Amino acid sequence: MAAVALVQGASRGLGLEFCKHILSFKAPAAVIATCRNPEGATDLAALAAQHPGRVTVLKVDVSREDDIKGAAEVVKKSFGKVDLIINSSAMLHPTGKGETGLRDVSAQGAISTLITNAVGPLVMAKYFSPLLQKGSGLFGQQPLEKAKQHSGIIVNITARVGSIGDNALGGWYSYRMSKVALNMATRNLSIELGRGRPKVLCVSLHPGTLNTDLSRPYHRNVPKDKLFSTQHSVEHLMAIIDSLNIDKSGKAYAWDGSELPW
Ligand SMILES: NC(=O)c1ccc[n+]([C@@H]2O[C@H](COP(=O)([O-])OP(=O)(O)OC[C@H]3O[C@@H](n4cnc5c(N)ncnc54)[C@H](OP(=O)(O)O)[C@@H]3O)[C@@H](O)[C@H]2O)c1
Repeated sequence: MAAVALVQGASRGLGLEFCKHILSFKAPAAVIATCRNPEGATDLAALAAQHPGRVTVLKVDVSREDDIKGAAEVVKKSFGKVDLIINSSAMLHPTGKGETGLRDVSAQGAISTLITNAVGPLVMAKYFSPLLQKGSGLFGQQPLEKAKQHSGIIVNITARVGSIGDNALGGWYSYRMSKVALNMATRNLSIELGRGRPKVLCVSLHPGTLNTDLSRPYHRNVPKDKLFSTQHSVEHLMAIIDSLNIDKSGKAYAWDGSELPW
């Protein structure tokens, strides 16, 4: 059976670009693209129309456990396995702006950000890990001997600002905390899902600063050569995914392949 990739948060930005990239593979791969509002995801609908029979769009608001559980049941019935999951969805903050200091912090803002960015991907792993354990481990250009070491891959899209060791500027409390929590989920998952066989490999990947809505209010402060298109970022991230083996599980990597300090 063809490889099956699930991109969570596929309506726009990096997630949509991952779908485009995977659909361009020579080896046919099925794409399950989840988003919280399929009717409003017009770019995703157009992409699905360009690739008849290869894209399954499912409604998943990642903050809703029932949505995730329901999607896993549909995927189990339709595909019986998943080879790769990319958790791409995130918010900077419900206001659209990161906190500059404590005065901007609100309990509700922090909780919403944590639920979407960290709890959601963890709950995804809960319901989809049995399907990843049924994966073939073959994805993209992975050589067979590497692929044999694991049945599936979870990629949690993180951010450099979620590195405690790298934090010299402060601010953005909720977003930073959510990505730290996401990274801990990646590490914990790599341990639990890396025991025994079949193994599921889990990594956090930082895509660089992207020309997307999430960071748009801050783009004027970013040098042009450091503001990446989603195409540029996905090409690099897919090269990392292709090169993964079980020894690399439980870590965070930046778009250029360098390991991020926790
Ligand atoms: N942009 C950057 O500079 C940058 C830098 C470092 C890391 N990242 C990370 O890269 C990833 C992709 O970000 P992006 O730049 O593509 O952001 P984006 O263009 O703002 O897209 C965010 C995506 O997340 C989805 N989303 C938000 N809340 C959701 C929820 N509750 N359930 C399901 N989907 C939800 C959005 O769906 P709707 O269309 O329904 O809103 C949208 O598809 C994120 O994890 C982000 O933290 C981005």
